[in-house]
Amino acid sequence: MKDKWVIGIIGGSGLYEIDAIEDAQWIAVRSPFGTPSDEILFGRIGEVEVRFLPRHGRGHPISPTELNARANIDALKRAGCTDVIAISAIGSLREELEPGRFVVVDQFIDRTMNRASTFFTSGMVAHVSMADPVCERLSGLVGAAVEKAGGKVAHGGTYLAMEGPQFSSRAESHMYRQWGADVIGMTAMPEAKLAREAELPYALVGMVTDYDCWREDEAAVDVATVLRQMRANSEVARRAVVELARSLPGVRSASPIDTTLDTALITAPSARD
Ligand code: ADE
Repeated sequence: MKDKWVIGIIGGSGLYEIDAIEDAQWIAVRSPFGTPSDEILFGRIGEVEVRFLPRHGRGHPISPTELNARANIDALKRAGCTDVIAISAIGSLREELEPGRFVVVDQFIDRTMNRASTFFTSGMVAHVSMADPVCERLSGLVGAAVEKAGGKVAHGGTYLAMEGPQFSSRAESHMYRQWGADVIGMTAMPEAKLAREAELPYALVGMVTDYDCWREDEAAVDVATVLRQMRANSEVARRAVVELARSLPGVRSASPIDTTLDTALITAPSARD
């Protein structure tokens, strides 16, 4: 029974530590899927256990393509997480999602192409549903927490995951808008798919840092712009994590995502490795 919350936090660009974590200790967690991005910061906020992992490693040495999302999600699971909140810098594909805005993403279009994206390879095949790719309960809690922390929130939005590390061409940016994507980033896939396979409820809070490159009369996105906006936003993100911990019900009730694999394995028991 997972009736005690243990919140995993994956910090994106510019968010490499969270001061509010008490009894904090960086611990290396080993995974059979390879090396996670960094050690995990174990601790608590009030009564709530938290585990923080900087997605790109402290100091940002790991590129989106090189990220070992399987090791990261597996390590968070081994660290005891019941739920995972991911925080990411994102570009905006919509006029009304201005830089500084927080978007609690609820859908994805996955255009990544060079990443290990499943825990289930030959020998044990599973097909999990990604129809509703984020946890509605966790997304609601985190959206409210960002608002309490003073952030302006869009509740819902479609995230286009691109391979990178180069930013998009203008033609691609226009195409993604036509596809119905609202925001763009390089890291939430396959992270969200792997969280589902690991039976971890997952929510993604994107922080809009730029308008990508679809606005003809505006300079295209660059790293300096992303970092400047991330610095401005990351204090709200840190406060939101504290607000979230404060707002969690004392007892965690079961989520349907906790038992995803009950109906997802297709390999017959007799044929499993
Ligand atoms: N992360 C932040 N801004 C981005 C953009 N415009 N494209 C891809 N990833 C991003």
